[in-house]
Amino acid sequence: MTDLASADYFTDATIAQDPYDYYEHLRSHGPVYREPHHGVVAVTGYAEVMAAFKDTDSFSAVNAIGGPFPPLPFEPDGDDITAQIEAHRHEFPIHEHMVVMDPPAHERARSLLSRLLTPRRLAENEEFMWELVDTQLDEFIGNQRCEFLSEYARPFATLAITDLLGVPAEDRAEFRRALGAEKPEGNRVGALDGAAVGLNPLEYLDDKFSAYIAERRRDPRNDVLGGMAAATYPDGSVPELLEVVRPATFLFAAGQETVTKLLSAAVQTLGDRPELQRQLREHRKSIPAFIEEALRMESPTKVDFRLARKTTTLGGVRIPAGTVVMLCLGAANRDPAKFEDPHEFRLDRKNVREHIAFGRGIHTCAGAPLARVEGRITVHRLLDRMRDITVSTEAHGPAHDRRYDYESTFLLRGLTDLHIEFTPVEAS
Ligand code: HEM
Repeated sequence: MTDLASADYFTDATIAQDPYDYYEHLRSHGPVYREPHHGVVAVTGYAEVMAAFKDTDSFSAVNAIGGPFPPLPFEPDGDDITAQIEAHRHEFPIHEHMVVMDPPAHERARSLLSRLLTPRRLAENEEFMWELVDTQLDEFIGNQRCEFLSEYARPFATLAITDLLGVPAEDRAEFRRALGAEKPEGNRVGALDGAAVGLNPLEYLDDKFSAYIAERRRDPRNDVLGGMAAATYPDGSVPELLEVVRPATFLFAAGQETVTKLLSAAVQTLGDRPELQRQLREHRKSIPAFIEEALRMESPTKVDFRLARKTTTLGGVRIPAGTVVMLCLGAANRDPAKFEDPHEFRLDRKNVREHIAFGRGIHTCAGAPLARVEGRITVHRLLDRMRDITVSTEAHGPAHDRRYDYESTFLLRGLTDLHIEFTPVEAS
């Protein structure tokens, strides 16, 4: 039994397996509380997390992914460290990606992404996904069992993004391999995690996309990548090659592991809650609410970080400039002041869409519509094509005593593997 009062959130293996008791421990000290090991201020209150997301004047996103790691490359000095952050920005991990940018650079990067994620592109991508889900299921459905992450969720999430970005069909198998979405497990990469981002996968992607875009700038083409190659900033200026490439490549880092975690949490719930599965089979209209509640209950991005750039207060607590603030999305989404019976999975929760699994404010998840569609389509076709989806007793133990392994990262919440069994539906 972990002593929660002395446990270190960032390294404790038991908390990584189940963070929710720890979040309640933090909450018992109030919605904003400085944890003792790294001096990180943990925010568990829904209202306080929202306030921090919206206050971009007081809070910088420069450390959004790594939080206290690595330590700040400077000694904070005074009540406004904006100039220090800017002087050292290039020393922060993944500083070239929009998720850690602040205004006005963030606005420019995001404007390029919005040129790509148009309603039309998302609609075409959704159409592709209805085909993809079946191709993916065809790979294993005859076996009547599967390891859901490696056989379905990871390749599905990866291939959905390759389509969104218009990666030429002949290159997609290579992307799947290179991004660790090939079975057997291979080199698992691509997580939106401090350790993984910025290493090989993003460099690989930067090279591939630089070549695609450069080719299309030389020789314009009327395809998705051609549209990216021609994109300009709102003021009409033409971005550098890498400034177009990075918003695109980052989608893999942001949308592969997170979606895998959402899909596996949703299917785990279907397997563990036969009555919910029955309800969804009878009322397919409840699938979107089911996905939202899965996001609230098992928020794939557990925590998100900010750096106080000005001395301020949050939830009545003084936050000196230079403080690392940990916004606990997984805890805010279970705040009893916001959600009734917060630890209960409820399909009929009225305010379920108010969860903040996708963050809020200027950095709110750019891929949220895509992730929601991925969840909806997956559950829909699984219910169409499989009868009696159950969790494997052999792999995870009996229904009253399941054993699940979660990835031991402080950032993301998700199963390492999920073995399910089912009866294929013949013609669909
Ligand atoms: C269930 C799946 C997902 C979850 C839980 C999730 C969660 C998040 C969160 C919490 C943020 C805010 C980070 C911050 O404020 O510091 C974020 C940002 C972002 N997400 Fe997602 N995400 C998911 C899927 C996706 C997908 C599928 C894509 C794209 C294909 C994507 C692209 C992005 C991008 C580009 C950002 C940065 C936005 C910005 O800085 O303006 N995400 N995501």
